[in-house]
Amino acid sequence: MDHFLYRNGTLHAEDVPVAEIAAEVGTPFYLYSTATLTRHYTLFDEALAWGPHLVCYAMKAASNQAILKTLAGLGAGMDVVSGGEYARAVAAGVPGEKIVFSGVGKTEEEMRAALAGGVRQFNLESEPEMERLNAVALSMGLVAPVTVRVNPDVDAKTHAKIATGKSENKFGIPISRARDIYAQIAKMKGLRAVGIDVHIGSQLTDLEPYRQAFMKVGDLTDQLRADGHVIERLDLGGGLGIPYTRGNEAPPLPSDYGQLIRETLGDKGCEIEIEPGRLVAGNAGIMVSRVIYVKSGEGRDFLILDGAMNDLIRPAMYDAHHDIVPVTEPEAGAEQRPYDIVGPVCESGDTFAKQRMMPPLAENDLVAFRSAGAYGAVMSSEYNTRPLIPEVLVNGHQFAVIRARPSFEDIINRDTLPSWL
Ligand code: LLP
Repeated sequence: MDHFLYRNGTLHAEDVPVAEIAAEVGTPFYLYSTATLTRHYTLFDEALAWGPHLVCYAMKAASNQAILKTLAGLGAGMDVVSGGEYARAVAAGVPGEKIVFSGVGKTEEEMRAALAGGVRQFNLESEPEMERLNAVALSMGLVAPVTVRVNPDVDAKTHAKIATGKSENKFGIPISRARDIYAQIAKMKGLRAVGIDVHIGSQLTDLEPYRQAFMKVGDLTDQLRADGHVIERLDLGGGLGIPYTRGNEAPPLPSDYGQLIRETLGDKGCEIEIEPGRLVAGNAGIMVSRVIYVKSGEGRDFLILDGAMNDLIRPAMYDAHHDIVPVTEPEAGAEQRPYDIVGPVCESGDTFAKQRMMPPLAENDLVAFRSAGAYGAVMSSEYNTRPLIPEVLVNGHQFAVIRARPSFEDIINRDTLPSWL
């Protein structure tokens, strides 16, 4: 459920007409709903209420300071994967003890910054990283809390580019090697193992791969404890999928997921951490765009929008489907016709949808891309020198620009000329 609904014949974000925001901010732009963000975070928090837990929002999905502050205010921890994301979490007021540091390629600088500023744990992904972190922590006279991300070799049954839990993926350490790694960690004075981490992929629409992974993590917990290690936390990653097509999909709910965790791991006496990104932010955001031209091609009509692949890359990159709806509510039973919906960027890949059935649209009409809150703005670029589009946050009757559109001057001034030019 989200808070982008038609009211009085026009799409609203909570209590604000989307067209009103478009008139003030200009198109295209991203628009987020505070009520939806809050609802989604709370669903996870409640799903794990049966025991000690921390929901660490994976900010890679949408990392605007206003979004982070909204979630941090509800008690969320953060999952970060770079020094930049760590700095964003700190800037949003998240205490170090609620920040989990993930990622396969943490640099020494990133380790230092997180150790100095405070960190809940590093999720280690390789032996060289383990050695590097040990050395960095020792050089600072500190002990780094760590988990090892194990790769359970399960098929997450999702898009190949976002599956991470198979042995051929670059992520984690094969679960079969875990006991050996924990034995090595126990000997390292700069590291202290606090738990186990697993993340098998993103946009999972079936709980079965989770069940398999969690069972393996449960067995590993028992083995490691028998080996004498203290396992007090289990970080189960993120990945729960969202419905991208209205009315057609019913992925498992956070409550089902929480129940599965309880069934598979609830008896381990561990604090449970999860790292959801997409489910928190995805359906809490839309991208609003305007029709520039309706072009009649041979045998097909094109809707040429002012939004493009640089603003929302998911269709070009993953063949992802986003529902696209007119901001003005179509009459019940209105005629539908097929359009190829494209952006102005000079590539054929700048296509959002082919032969998509839509009510007839005209120049200047507004459309909204649904489910664009996660991996939308954060993956955008300024390709074709198209300025990064603004982000706007709604809260009830209020809205505010939370990232302004840069001017052409801002963009050009970021370049610097060498002395010889
Ligand atoms: N934890 C780790 C270690 C991750 O790698 C990810 C996502 C998450 C948590 C959050 O997963 P989520 O709950 O959002 O599924 N750009 C792609 C998605 C990439 C996901 C990368 N890792 C897309 O647009 O579909």
